[in-house]
Amino acid sequence: MTAGTTTSGTAHTGDAGGSTHENEARKAMSVPLRFRLNGEDIEMQVKDAGAPLLDVLRHDLGLTGTKSGCEIGYCGACTVIVDGEAVPACLQMAGLLEGRDVRTIEDLGGPGGLDPVQRAFVEEAGFQCGFCTPGHVMALRALLDEDPAPDEEQLRTAVDGNYCRCTGYVKILDSARRAVALQTGAAQAGAAEAGAADAGAGDVGSAPGQELR
Ligand code: FES
Ligand code: FES
Repeated sequence: MTAGTTTSGTAHTGDAGGSTHENEARKAMSVPLRFRLNGEDIEMQVKDAGAPLLDVLRHDLGLTGTKSGCEIGYCGACTVIVDGEAVPACLQMAGLLEGRDVRTIEDLGGPGGLDPVQRAFVEEAGFQCGFCTPGHVMALRALLDEDPAPDEEQLRTAVDGNYCRCTGYVKILDSARRAVALQTGAAQAGAAEAGAADAGAGDVGSAPGQELR
């Protein structure tokens, strides 16, 4: 994926127009940036290497699933995963992303179904307005990627930097526990399926008069 003409800090300020000369000057000042985003290699230009990743995602790349709240690292609404760690996108400078791996809420779920963490929030009604939900989901996704069976303290620690002004957190913690159960169940189901496939292959192989294909 290439976003070669985007410039951080211009698309949302309304000054993206201007003369050819101005555009050329702007382009000359821009900084090349290559990183991995949701499994795809990204190559783009950012106007300011100090621009926050949050702006690059939302304004330059149109990935608005990552929410903008306090923009000073307190609320967790903008949580993304960088190199496996949950971090606030509002505090990540674009220029420091070179070569790094970034995952946003858009990377979770898909045609095959929801990510177990997303499904847990649906099943436990872990949101009301939903503004804080992408941040909570990404914080928990990072934890479960690192430890598929975290304890209660780990769950609470994972989301203690994520504010919610609607739910009172009880349902969010219920969702977190449910996510662990769903992920563990999915892993067990996957192992059982693989085991059944192995057993099935063995059956076919041992069946008289049959050949493996
Ligand atoms: S918007 Fe980034 S922590 Fe609040
Ligand atoms: S559901 Fe509204 S802020 Fe959390």
